[in-house]
Amino acid sequence: MKQVFTFFAFIFFSYSCNNEKSNTITFSSIEIDQKVDSIISLMNLDEKVGQMTQIDQRFLDTISDISTYTIGSLLSGGGSTPKINKPDEWLKMYNRYQKEAMNSRLKIPLVYGIDAVHGHNNVVGATIFPHNIGLGATRNEELVTEIGKATAIAVNATGIDWTFAPCLTNPKDYRWGRTYEGFSDDPKLVARLGVASIKGIQDKSISNGKSVIACAKHFIGDGNTEFGTGMNGLVDRGDVKMSLDSLRKELVPKYQESIDAGVMTVMASYNMWNGIRCHASKELLTDLLKDEMGFQGFVVSDWEAIDQIPGDYKSDIEISINAGIDMVMVSGEGQPYKKYIRLLKENVNEGLISMERIDDAVSRILKVKLLSGLYENPFVENDRLNLIGSDKHRNLGRQAVRESIVVLKNDGMLPISKNINNLVVAGRGADNIGMQCGGWSIAWQGGQGRITKGTSILEGIKKTVANNTNLVYSIDGKGVDNSNGEVAIVVIGEDPYTEWFGDVEKVEINNEDLKTIQRLKSKGYRVMVLLISGRPMNISNHIDGWDGFASLWLPGTEGIGVSDILFGDYSSTGKLSFPWPIQVEDGALSSYDKILFDRGYGL
Ligand code: GLC
Repeated sequence: MKQVFTFFAFIFFSYSCNNEKSNTITFSSIEIDQKVDSIISLMNLDEKVGQMTQIDQRFLDTISDISTYTIGSLLSGGGSTPKINKPDEWLKMYNRYQKEAMNSRLKIPLVYGIDAVHGHNNVVGATIFPHNIGLGATRNEELVTEIGKATAIAVNATGIDWTFAPCLTNPKDYRWGRTYEGFSDDPKLVARLGVASIKGIQDKSISNGKSVIACAKHFIGDGNTEFGTGMNGLVDRGDVKMSLDSLRKELVPKYQESIDAGVMTVMASYNMWNGIRCHASKELLTDLLKDEMGFQGFVVSDWEAIDQIPGDYKSDIEISINAGIDMVMVSGEGQPYKKYIRLLKENVNEGLISMERIDDAVSRILKVKLLSGLYENPFVENDRLNLIGSDKHRNLGRQAVRESIVVLKNDGMLPISKNINNLVVAGRGADNIGMQCGGWSIAWQGGQGRITKGTSILEGIKKTVANNTNLVYSIDGKGVDNSNGEVAIVVIGEDPYTEWFGDVEKVEINNEDLKTIQRLKSKGYRVMVLLISGRPMNISNHIDGWDGFASLWLPGTEGIGVSDILFGDYSSTGKLSFPWPIQVEDGALSSYDKILFDRGYGL
């Protein structure tokens, strides 16, 4: 009898979901609440606990575990790709996992998450857009919404339901390896661009009725930790020493605006707040985020983040779930997911976690699966793969590159004539798509050189200058003739990094880069220095010797957008979204006597 009811219950949910008229995401829906309650009433504890489990697909022991344990979510962490990294292989992988989920008793679909944080950046062939620090310099909300849509179209085309974006950090310390994931140090600008991104990502009109789920992260204070309290005694995952009052004033509004814009998930932050891990803080995750700010979606943990709560794994689970974590990114690498499931059930059976808390967590997860349209559209056809890396998206990426470039010095250098007779292009970043993209690009830590399809800055220059221009490329400036004041474009910068791999004590320009510039200066060239970096860097001791200087941030695959500015097809409009101190280790300070260029500056 139960099976029959289940079947009709499922048909009823599907039918009534299709009645959703609105294209935007609104949580206040009696219908949805009723559907959720009906599903919950059919579920046993195993199924509820399974929904609160997220595993990286690489670490599944066997695919049938998805249905055996009614797993609620899979993710592709950085580098977690199908064997062959091509769009159609991603879609095949997604549909295969989703099909297995449909073998479970209640056929609750998986929600599959990925870090598509600057385009669908794990997928070879997808357009990779500038990282948030560059988008902050555009201040262009419409552009950010369009990039959110383009990203969602690519993510949806590979089947995937959920991106762990936008990051709402407003970094204060540039020694942090995740500075570039912030639009700005100014939480007001972050709020505006974060909402713009969510509107693009979750727009139901762009996909086959299944809107991609956005994720406001990392709640709360990820970019406000105190130097020395982080991992390896540096910044990442450190301690935010801030009163509740200051936290409410500075960090809460950007999340409130995202919640009001309908963001369906929030990711808790690794960092501590006054010594307590966010993942362990009921005050933050329940009292503030859910009760006071009215967040009705679900809270996902960060990667194995609950393991950092003092105590053993069973108490980590008890504390984090009771604090308000609804789904744990177990990962399956650091902790076996079967151990997590067993211990979560033990906590419930021993009364350490109430069934009411479990039902609240599962209700939130089911609500998002219903609201996003995933319930009635669990599978994705392969008729949208051609949208990935489309000319339309590449042109959007090129526009974003143009608008993100900030020109900070221009002693008669720009625009360079396209008919220039002799031109030298040099530097480690000149012909290096990997450096252009930075972290979170194909591999977790990014990579060097031709990591994916796109145009390097050099290729863009070659396409732009006249055929009779004598263009010489030299990565280090050696083997270049002397000059009588000819122009050399030198592209320097940071090697890709992600998360704590980018934490540093000093933010210095690479010595090799300085030598390349010096070689060209000593040969009589006028140098236009272009910096690829995830943050402001120490240039105050060097910039006087440069004839021109522009910050490219991390522009992504469409390097040709740099030439649009260099050769004057477009004038630069980018403005700093972070203050640039004389001593960059001072971070985003406000005292004018220590600032080289202020936030909002750009030629
Ligand atoms: C990482 C990051 C988080 C990311 C998650 C999944 O550790 O902190 O931003 O979304 O794990 O890859």
